[in-house]
Amino acid sequence: MVENPSAPADVHTTRQAYNEIAAVYTEFVKGHLDTAPFDRAMLSVFAERVRAGGSGSVADIGCGEGRITAHLNALGVPAFGIDLAPELLAIARQQYPELSFDEGSMEQLALGDGSLAGLVVWYSMIHLPPERVPDVLNELYRVLAWEGHALLAFQATDVPDTVEAFDHKVTRAYRWSPERLAGLLRDAGFTVHAQLVREPEPDERFQQAYLLASKLR
Ligand SMILES: C[S@@+](CC[C@H](N)C(=O)[O-])C[C@H]1O[C@@H](n2cnc3c(N)ncnc32)[C@H](O)[C@@H]1O
Repeated sequence: MVENPSAPADVHTTRQAYNEIAAVYTEFVKGHLDTAPFDRAMLSVFAERVRAGGSGSVADIGCGEGRITAHLNALGVPAFGIDLAPELLAIARQQYPELSFDEGSMEQLALGDGSLAGLVVWYSMIHLPPERVPDVLNELYRVLAWEGHALLAFQATDVPDTVEAFDHKVTRAYRWSPERLAGLLRDAGFTVHAQLVREPEPDERFQQAYLLASKLR
């Protein structure tokens, strides 16, 4: 995919920032899942639900260097990755040559209506200006099949009904109160099944949250 020149400036900034930091970011996340039991637990619940639904592929949207895509495949879920940043995608393809990684934006996915059995948005919606999040959730809803599953992970705030910018190391990012993001998921049509908030680990500044949802008739 050729970079869309009419995309908002923040999209170019995010792509550029992750391109520049791709190797460092890859080193930073190396082995992280091994020390993140809550992450593994939520991915495991998601994978179990997708597998129970039968066939169909899963998109890891904002896949970065591909660690979550690979983990999902190891859990028996046929996942592929989508990301804005070509440099990260190149690393993903190098690390996991058996998997598929495509360039694209979650704001306009090159996927058919109802084409996914599941989707994961793992710390990748965090850079999106909050006013554009409802449209992205509509887009995620569009590409998900009926009975399909969605899993989101993100930095949280415990201030109710809030979204606030924070100084993320790569580029500007936003942390959400889980209830507020869950409300937007419901507005887009999703059914929210679970919301987990955990306290920060010693190397984290904020609470972390996970939302598990699905597209029910
Ligand atoms: C914090 S990293 C997380 C990467 C990966 N999910 C992980 O946990 O290792 C955020 C990722 O989201 C991607 N991203 C940001 N905005 C995006 C968008 N609009 N569409 C697709 N990917 C996006 C970035 O390029 C980056 O790879």
